[in-house]
Amino acid sequence: MSTPARNEPPVALRRLLPSDAELTAEQLVAELRPWEHATAQRPHVAVNMVHTSDGRATVDGRTAPISSLADRQLFHALRTRVDAIMVGAGTLRVERYGRMVRDAERREQRRLAGLQPDPLAIVISGSLELSADLPLLQDPDSRVVIVTAAEGSIDGVVADVQYMRFPDGVDLGAALARLRGDNRVRCILCEGGPRLNASLVAGGLIDELFLTTFPQIAGGAGALTIMDDALLGAPVALSLLSLCESAGELFARYAFEPPV
Ligand SMILES: NC(=O)c1ccc[n+]([C@@H]2O[C@H](COP(=O)([O-])OP(=O)(O)OC[C@H]3O[C@@H](n4cnc5c(N)ncnc54)[C@H](OP(=O)(O)O)[C@@H]3O)[C@@H](O)[C@H]2O)c1
Repeated sequence: MSTPARNEPPVALRRLLPSDAELTAEQLVAELRPWEHATAQRPHVAVNMVHTSDGRATVDGRTAPISSLADRQLFHALRTRVDAIMVGAGTLRVERYGRMVRDAERREQRRLAGLQPDPLAIVISGSLELSADLPLLQDPDSRVVIVTAAEGSIDGVVADVQYMRFPDGVDLGAALARLRGDNRVRCILCEGGPRLNASLVAGGLIDELFLTTFPQIAGGAGALTIMDDALLGAPVALSLLSLCESAGELFARYAFEPPV
């Protein structure tokens, strides 16, 4: 995901719900205080995803074809409001993540909100098959926790990398509890991908969903959906907290309703 240059004009989002307003992405996120919603057991977890009108999370294996400037501005604005950003190994490999908040002004926004200038990066990788040349692992300013079932470590990294191990298989609920207790993480923005989301939703570990609907039918057999093939005992209900629109694209924020 490329960083929009700061001189690109902020896109106006027309908020339709809960009340009419015209806002930039920065203004929209300014009211979010996810750190206030952590419990003692685990951080508050918000997932941010984009999909097409026919529910495709990728086109030709990437998100770039369905990512507008407005969506990228919201993507980067959301990163200014959380303690940590979590991503699955598949997404890290394909999208080649680097430093999570590259823009100095955005790091200053984080500091003004009482957050560390750089968020903690959390990578979920059962296999630990991650190349040391990934830009995130080569960034001297990044702190990274890799949650894995594998032994060993990645040679040649420059970032400050710690490992959280689950030799019998990654237990995401236990990982979140340890991140809350040991790393003092209060809120996490999870940027997917679909397979990680599927595990999280099946474990009842998601509190909010930011979902951008790109106004396009992409087609394509077998394309990933935002939660892949999540195995759920019952459908999970969502309640719509806010809805914005820009050039036909929809930006929704949902709360996951507690199971009844
Ligand atoms: N539309 C969007 O908003 C969006 C967002 C993000 C990504 N994407 C796209 O999604 C595609 C990647 O999809 P994906 O589903 O493969 O990505 P993913 O969920 O990021 O990565 C899957 C990998 O993450 C690790 N993982 C996830 N859940 C795990 C668990 N419960 N336990 C242990 N390891 C776990 C495993 O890593 P190991 O293989 O290392 O064991 C697994 O192979 C890319 O094309 C990307 O561009 C789209």
